[in-house]
Amino acid sequence: MQHPATPRLAWAITGSGHFLGECLALVESRTDVDLFLTRAAAEVLVMYGVDLKRLRERITCYRDGAASAPPVARFYQGIYSRLVIAPATSNTVAKMVCGISDTLVTNIYAQAGKCRVPSIVFACDTAPAMQTEAPGGQVMVYPRRIDLENVERLRGFEYTTVVDSVAALAAALALPP
Ligand SMILES: Cc1cc2nc3c(=O)[nH]c(=O)nc-3n(C[C@H](O)[C@H](O)[C@H](O)COP(=O)(O)O)c2cc1C
Repeated sequence: MQHPATPRLAWAITGSGHFLGECLALVESRTDVDLFLTRAAAEVLVMYGVDLKRLRERITCYRDGAASAPPVARFYQGIYSRLVIAPATSNTVAKMVCGISDTLVTNIYAQAGKCRVPSIVFACDTAPAMQTEAPGGQVMVYPRRIDLENVERLRGFEYTTVVDSVAALAAALALPP
């Protein structure tokens, strides 16, 4: 199969408000991004005031609507040089470290790995106490031991870089794939 000369960036958003605006700003600053949304992401984006219809007018957007995650085929076609999952919920991280692929985003993470496409994961739960953005403003959250352990386990996965901040995400994106 012939691969495209200019590979694109696959960017997955999960159902998290953690630095969601900053992640979207990074997405919007680029012209090479296709978006992949979990069902929860499609709901949560609206709760944070994002107009999904207008977003889809600007950026190609794949939503989670089928059990077999048909857009994974795009990874077999060499369309993407990298996958970014930002922000990544504790739910999606837990599934990824268990090898579960039952949403669009956990499926593309699995297929990216199987196609040796590197992934950058901006996990939400990286400290025992942290401020995060709720729809009404900033709140304190206290990730559980299981959430923190899952992030640590993910750091050891092949073809996976875990980042803990928006600055680290931007720095990882600035590196060649
Ligand atoms: C407004 C809102 C904000 C949320 N923010 C987070 C978050 O920062 N981190 C997280 O792990 N879950 C968060 N959740 C919960 C997830 O959306 C929920 O666990 C969902 O099942 C995740 O599904 P997904 O991983 O397939 O996207 C949030 C939910 C809502 C309604």
